[in-house]
Amino acid sequence: APQKVPMSRHEPNKYINYQRIEDNLEVVRKRLNRPLTLSEKILYGHLDNAAEQDIQRGVSYLQLRPDRVVCQDATAQMALLQFMSAGIPEVAVPSSVHCDHLILGESGAEADLARAKEVNKEVYDFLATTCAKYNLGFWGPGSGIIHQIVIENYAFPGALIIGTDSHTPNAGGLGAAAVGVGGADAVDVMAGIPWELKCPKAIGVKLTGRLNGWTSPKDIILEVAGILTVKGGTGAIVEYFGPGVESVSATGMGTVCNMGAEIGATTSVFPFTESMGRYLVSTGRPEVAEASKQFAHNLRADEGAKYDEVIEINLSELEPRINGPFTPDLMTPLKSFKETAKEKNWPQDISACLIGSCTNSSYEDMTRAASLAKEAMDAGLKVKSDFIITPGSEQIRATTERDGLLEIFRKAGGTILANACGPCIGQWARHDVKKGERNTIVTSYNRNFTGRNDGNPATHGFVASPEIVTALAFGGSTNFNPVTDTLTTPSGKPFKFSAPNGEELPDRGFDTGLNTYQAPPADRSSVDIKVNPDSQRLQLLKPFKPWNGKDIENVPILIKVKGKCTTDHISMAGPWLKYRGHLDNISNNMLIGATNSENGEANKVRNQVTGEFDAVPATARYYKAHDIPWIVIGDENYGEGSSREHAAMSVRFLGGAAVIVKSFARIHETNLKKQGLLPLTFNNPKDYDRISPEDKLSILGLKDLTPGKPLTLRVTKPSGEHFDITVDHTFNENQITWFHAGSALNHIAKSRK
Ligand code: F3S
Repeated sequence: APQKVPMSRHEPNKYINYQRIEDNLEVVRKRLNRPLTLSEKILYGHLDNAAEQDIQRGVSYLQLRPDRVVCQDATAQMALLQFMSAGIPEVAVPSSVHCDHLILGESGAEADLARAKEVNKEVYDFLATTCAKYNLGFWGPGSGIIHQIVIENYAFPGALIIGTDSHTPNAGGLGAAAVGVGGADAVDVMAGIPWELKCPKAIGVKLTGRLNGWTSPKDIILEVAGILTVKGGTGAIVEYFGPGVESVSATGMGTVCNMGAEIGATTSVFPFTESMGRYLVSTGRPEVAEASKQFAHNLRADEGAKYDEVIEINLSELEPRINGPFTPDLMTPLKSFKETAKEKNWPQDISACLIGSCTNSSYEDMTRAASLAKEAMDAGLKVKSDFIITPGSEQIRATTERDGLLEIFRKAGGTILANACGPCIGQWARHDVKKGERNTIVTSYNRNFTGRNDGNPATHGFVASPEIVTALAFGGSTNFNPVTDTLTTPSGKPFKFSAPNGEELPDRGFDTGLNTYQAPPADRSSVDIKVNPDSQRLQLLKPFKPWNGKDIENVPILIKVKGKCTTDHISMAGPWLKYRGHLDNISNNMLIGATNSENGEANKVRNQVTGEFDAVPATARYYKAHDIPWIVIGDENYGEGSSREHAAMSVRFLGGAAVIVKSFARIHETNLKKQGLLPLTFNNPKDYDRISPEDKLSILGLKDLTPGKPLTLRVTKPSGEHFDITVDHTFNENQITWFHAGSALNHIAKSRK
């Protein structure tokens, strides 16, 4: 393996550890004795214990040691609050926080940013001081979107990165395996605990031919999404390979990997390419490029590696596509879009066209889009739709400003928003369309679920390449096909777009722009963390109580849930997002979406002490105030959906002791264990029916809670009669220590003392 090379210029003393990959792979190869895919090489190269780890794709749970943790500002709040309570002086691996989600796009970059700094001041202050205290890099508001900054500064070929945001896989553009996780996973890794991941399957995508003309990297992933659908990548890593890979830029590969999240893939990866080398050099990391080149044998799949499924795409024949509305896998080739829109009665006027975001704001994207805008402008045309540009980072903004690209967009009638998520995450104060009004928007973003961008369920959101989106802004209608149709200039002449052309990287190099990065100070001991005790958005965490050494006896059921209960039912998002850093406040949403089996209603349960019906959180608070632990009974696949740790924390915070269900979604089950709760399953799922909401429950046998050994649930009817049923658990030795200590973090804090 090559010489010592710093992982990034922001952490000159942390080095890329290719030697570990090399050593681990030597062990794994002897054990598996077969060719490995690229994603296997990266993952197994980061195993905590390569010699003993059970390795079966789609079956085993890998214990991994990621190189880096990245967090965005919405998810970082609770992650850092939890990290603080572990009592550890600094993060165990290089980590950073990025302020990008909380900036509302309304009138333009400057005003919007100034307003966000005011509105979110306490959150930004908290994040900045916590980062300084615990040795994390802090990228303040205006610095840009997490994934763009990661690819510009932190990602490197062969890296294993976790990030508390679904589009973390964007770093695959630089050959990293980057996975979106929940806050609880980030906390583990920052605290030095291995990260657990179900060993993914591998889906191969073979690229042949070359991208050309109007077709761009975005069209590769729009095509893949059309083939695999939104569920097709679940539990798998998508690996691109084949000769076509060489015609894609690093940032283009980033786009493809970013949107792999839309098909549910764990992540997506590309082998090391010349274009990655060029990007690394252009972004000031020639030594990383050199090291990767020397290590390239481990940055591609072995000859003959087997995939669980393979699809093939010929880039020479691939044409632009437009996906949507309402789902990213509904794929329509551009050439039939006009007819399809008419047939399906999609609104034909395009009200807004939006480019940029973490998915598509590379220099290449911007120059290609600007080439179209300039050509149209030179012919006297202006945009017909609203045209909105969100640069992915301050570096992209400064460079595209310097090179005159943003000026072209402005002159064409575009609005430049702050370097932030903005309309992509619904941070869009839209004034042109009323709620409920049917309209069409086209974006170069990644997600287009109902209401995602403007909160209007009647907005038909489509996703396409930035080039197509820009051209459509001039056409203003779904009836315009920029590849074949003409527009009429003010002087009455026909105008037809040439195919876009751009530059992969800026000739003059990147301009890093304003300095928005805060490095942790050398002396971190005197840093004070700022949390106002009266804050409604932030609250320091108090450790949960350790187990009292006794069985749980005769406690009430808070709610017996009927049917589907996802993490959204348990901890709703939307308006509650602003309380992500305030456990007490956010707990007022606990289980308010779950259906009560007793009355078929949501958020209405009987208080078993008073007999009155009340809201679920209010009832839980009553029990808590009277020192009465309680239990939740649930149905199948309880806790599916996201890895949101609040769904477990609120239950614990409001006094829950156990959650007993027919079956769990695994991540939520683990999150419950991390918070010191008992997730249990009925040994016989039919026992669910034998329990009534007014029964009292006891969980017996906790003194010798042992891996693999079931517990007894005693059900006492109001008449006093009782019967016992068997409940199972999946605690391992280590997780049992979490239960004893009251939470995983309590355990860590305790073992440090
Ligand atoms: Fe932000 Fe949208 Fe990307 S929310 S991180 S720009 S997917």
